[in-house]
Amino acid sequence: MDYDRYDRIRAVQWQGDHLRLLDQRLLPGEECWINCADAGQITQAIKDLAVRGAPAIGIAAAWGVALAAKQGEPLDEVLTTLRAARPTAVNLMWALDRMKKRIVAGADAAALVREAQAIQDEDLAANRRMGELGAALIRTHSGVLTHCNTGSLATAGFGTALGVIRAGVAMGRIDHVYAGETRPWQQGARLTMWELVRDGISAQLIADSAAAHLMKSGAVQWVIVGADRIAANGDTANKIGTYQLAIAAKYHGVKFMVVAPSSTVDMATGSGEEIEIELRDPAELLSTAGKRTVVEGARAWNPVFDVAPAELIDAIVTERGVIERPNSISMQAMFGW
Ligand code: MRU
Repeated sequence: MDYDRYDRIRAVQWQGDHLRLLDQRLLPGEECWINCADAGQITQAIKDLAVRGAPAIGIAAAWGVALAAKQGEPLDEVLTTLRAARPTAVNLMWALDRMKKRIVAGADAAALVREAQAIQDEDLAANRRMGELGAALIRTHSGVLTHCNTGSLATAGFGTALGVIRAGVAMGRIDHVYAGETRPWQQGARLTMWELVRDGISAQLIADSAAAHLMKSGAVQWVIVGADRIAANGDTANKIGTYQLAIAAKYHGVKFMVVAPSSTVDMATGSGEEIEIELRDPAELLSTAGKRTVVEGARAWNPVFDVAPAELIDAIVTERGVIERPNSISMQAMFGW
């Protein structure tokens, strides 16, 4: 695998005394970096989606704790504020719990910096492993559809679902990629297409509403998505629209793959029913690129994640291995305590 060709973006960069984040709200128009000088600014960047994607927000939060420790801030407060930044992606809570464990064990600021770095490094290694495992499931000359952005921007690098796609392209298994635009934040249109075009991967953008029609055409053999939280029975929360993709895939005989590191698995949550779905400001739906597109007085409902039930998932790929047709028993066997 030629990682130099397919893995060049690092959106979360520790600078020793601050955290540098590639502002994902402005891509692809502007490549603008934000320098976060304290944990409060990192919390705000997570809330505002300047940094986004389940693994990336966990990594950024870990750096927030390390930074706060260096600055002598009260760590309990910092942990609480960071934890409340976004509710659905469990990687955030996972990373903070891991940092807290080190704090409770008496770690100093230098040790917390090492822990945050370990979280970031392990995520990159997990993505590369998942790339190999997931791509091995795909037959040569396949077409795939992906949703949201799960690439280097959303992780420590390489990506989860996009990592499998990168590996699949490199191995000659994937010929062509379709990316759904992912309303309302357009992570697919703005971010995934940016990554795919930079890599020279054959790809086309589709409107979210074109997905079932695409599947009917026979052009895709797999839908490949990431995850924000995988419950103990395999139910998977991911970007809004994932559930309808899973339903349409089942109807058309298209396979459905979820790719996520084990830090996204939440064995303390029994099923998707228990996952909190983030509701964001309805204003995000009422305007496009800052310009109001819907009549004044109109209201909107803006859930930004949904849950694909385990029975619609053909494979969950993590760095620990692949679970085909996941259920409570197979999840417990791989992730049980
Ligand atoms: O709201 P976002 O952009 O943070 O949502 C991101 C997603 O839903 C991704 O698909 C998920 O976090 C997996 S990223 C590797």
